[in-house]
Amino acid sequence: MAVVGTISLPGDKSISHRALMIASMSKGKSKIKNLSTGQDVASTISCLTKCGVKFNQKRYETTIYGGSLRQPDEILDCGNSGTTMRLLSGLLAGQGIEATLIGDRSLSLRPMRRIIEPLIKMGVNISSNNSLAPLSIKKSHLNPIHHYSPIASAQVKSCILFAGLGADEPTQITEPILSRDHTEIMLKHVGANIHVSKECISISKSTNLIPLDFTIPSDPSTAAFFIAAAILSKGSKLQIKNVLLNETRSGFMKAIIRMGGKIDIQESWIENGEKIGNIEIRTSLLKSIQINKDEVPSIIDELPIFAIMATQAVGETIVSGAKELRIKESDRISTICNNLKLIGADVKELDDGFIINGPTKLQGASLRSFDDHRIAMGFSIADLITDGDIQLDNRECIAVSYPEFDTTIKKIVQ
Ligand code: S3P
Repeated sequence: MAVVGTISLPGDKSISHRALMIASMSKGKSKIKNLSTGQDVASTISCLTKCGVKFNQKRYETTIYGGSLRQPDEILDCGNSGTTMRLLSGLLAGQGIEATLIGDRSLSLRPMRRIIEPLIKMGVNISSNNSLAPLSIKKSHLNPIHHYSPIASAQVKSCILFAGLGADEPTQITEPILSRDHTEIMLKHVGANIHVSKECISISKSTNLIPLDFTIPSDPSTAAFFIAAAILSKGSKLQIKNVLLNETRSGFMKAIIRMGGKIDIQESWIENGEKIGNIEIRTSLLKSIQINKDEVPSIIDELPIFAIMATQAVGETIVSGAKELRIKESDRISTICNNLKLIGADVKELDDGFIINGPTKLQGASLRSFDDHRIAMGFSIADLITDGDIQLDNRECIAVSYPEFDTTIKKIVQ
């Protein structure tokens, strides 16, 4: 089996959420091409629609009529999307809009204290179910704060920055390690009063945001699954076009290159402040590496597929400082390790990561996806290299980020 061809992918999920939210706050008509096609981004559109924003969605281009945000008549359902719930809470607080936000079973178990505490410090009247969803936000006067975040979380950072857009005095945030910086880049691009320095990010009231007009680059977190398929199969040569290459998202590609993976950046350019490029991937033999705390934010969403690749690398791969994985769409340390053990990998679960010894020939088995799209896609890729089949329950959850996953696999696997 070889992975061959040229693909480009729907737009990055993180950038898609932010583009929709920022376009909703800006006055006028925004045009966004190549929006993520996943259910998470559809949840953001549905919540913003209930807040009075009008969208016109064509196949490849979405028009957003911003500047008319109002209080919704209904509860806002964020589905499975942590980014929708956490970012929208900040946006609504900053725009003085009252709303209640709910999520599905998985999202209702994910920690919201990380945004509730700073929002309360800012003076936001927000209530929750014991620091879990549902969240109810009431119109409040916002105070200036400097939030020192104990975790490197772009969702927390973005929530506070969005709220800060509506505060009379500057809001500042400092994070321990730089998390993905799309919010800062996009806010600068639309003319918000934002200043980024080594010490902190500072934002002040910004009411005249310029509408957006841009194409969202291919999602690197989705690309990671196809990169893995190409590297692990014999005789592969895969090209992925227009991939987001932002430094804060490049941990996976850098790690795989360090392991000996053949990933070539053929050309790259900057568009709207984001680095984008065309990449070529070839079959490669991998050796083990270590991933530590400082690298984790830039590879966090790719760790499920990274772990599967580590089973094929020679030696001991260690991932540590990744406790945040336990509170993603599933407890990903546990779901990765349990599934890997069931298909014959040599894996040891750590409190904050895992140790994998390779290479091992993987076997087929019946596995659970734990309703987690990245677990389902990761073990679908593992299925390409196992003796015997991997059967996964609820593969439908893949639609949370990439509904076209199976079609793309069929196109490139020979
Ligand atoms: C995201 C930030 C990360 C990431 C998530 C998307 C974002 O979460 O895991 O998939 O778009 O801001 P945290 O902020 O919880 O680290």
